[in-house]
Amino acid sequence: MKKTQLTKLSYLIDIPLILDESQLMFAEMKRHIPFPMKRFYVISNVDRNAIRGLHAHRKLQQVLFCIQGSITFVLDNGYEREEIKLDKPNVGIFIDNWMWREMKNFTPDAVLLVLASDYYKESDYIRNYDQFLFEVTTTKNKFSVRYVQHVFTMVKKAFVHQFPFITALSKKYN
Ligand code: TYD
Repeated sequence: MKKTQLTKLSYLIDIPLILDESQLMFAEMKRHIPFPMKRFYVISNVDRNAIRGLHAHRKLQQVLFCIQGSITFVLDNGYEREEIKLDKPNVGIFIDNWMWREMKNFTPDAVLLVLASDYYKESDYIRNYDQFLFEVTTTKNKFSVRYVQHVFTMVKKAFVHQFPFITALSKKYN
């Protein structure tokens, strides 16, 4: 079984699932969870129309499991967005710091289990999207891997886009 599966902006983590007369899942720090967990919390009984999250963290990392029902996650790194539906109890999504997240389409039975790398600190939250965009694109993070990856993608896109034009030009003048 593959332990991780890349998504556009993050990755999914498969944890072991034991099916006997019950269903049992477990996760071990380091082997499955990429940080030492300091806190967990559980969200359930969410209204079907509710949208939760709507924030990013400056430092906190999390792995989220939808251990019952299904939930759609929206991830946004300030440059790109993706939607991921979690509907398997043993598949979690890693959410890094500097990642805006929204959670929606909770089924009535959905239970979200969140493993977090640190204690609750309101000062670590960015709850305003414009503020998130501002912080993610200012010098503090300019040299982050994500920023370099984004610039690389943009250059690649620009090049691919220009390529037919360059070929046409070279044909014209050769
Ligand atoms: P929040 O993280 O905003 O929830 P969500 O991301 O699901 O929308 O938390 C909701 C409220 O609960 C907020 O007032 C802070 C409080 N809270 C704590 O006190 N401790 C915690 O560990 C968490 C996760 C939330």
